[in-house]
Amino acid sequence: MPAERGLDGAVQALALAVPLPVDVGVRLAGTPPAAVESAAYFAVAEVLTNVTKHSGARRAWVRLSFDNGLLRTVVGDDGRGGATPDAGTGLAGVGRRLAAFDGTMTVTSPPGGPTVVTMELPCALSSRRTSPSSGTG
Ligand SMILES: Nc1ncnc2c1ncn2[C@@H]1O[C@H](COP(=O)(O)OP(=O)(O)OP(=O)(O)O)[C@@H](O)[C@H]1O
Ligand SMILES: [Mg+2]
Repeated sequence: MPAERGLDGAVQALALAVPLPVDVGVRLAGTPPAAVESAAYFAVAEVLTNVTKHSGARRAWVRLSFDNGLLRTVVGDDGRGGATPDAGTGLAGVGRRLAAFDGTMTVTSPPGGPTVVTMELPCALSSRRTSPSSGTG
């Protein structure tokens, strides 16, 4: 993940690279641990790649929020549905990576859509991003 702009900015950049409108909403009152940010970023990248490749959607959305000790990332699209972690390596890999952090992934994707992938990662937010260049060096 490009560290200098945080998870919010990194996800915004991913969304801009998708060839359809992706609405990004971020409600985070702090900064997750770097490893959790990276896992969430990786997940959004894979799920948005799927939107482009498979969904036929007209629009998509990403929501990042934090509640009750869980970083929740939701990626949705209004496409054809039919997403399943059983059919490829992408979604299954996201699930495995989240599980390594005691996180979860839920895929809801009925025929006709919408597809909604909800990912939760337990963590604590810190109030301030620690700059790599801070300290007395
Ligand atoms: N947003 C989506 N809309 C519709 N179908 C989807 C969506 N995301 C995934 N799928 C379906 O679920 C399958 C599994 O997705 P997954 O990401 O695991 O594999 P993949 O994208 O086919 O291959 P890769 O291993 O390169 O990611 C896809 O092949 C596709 O059929
Ligand atoms: Mg994929």
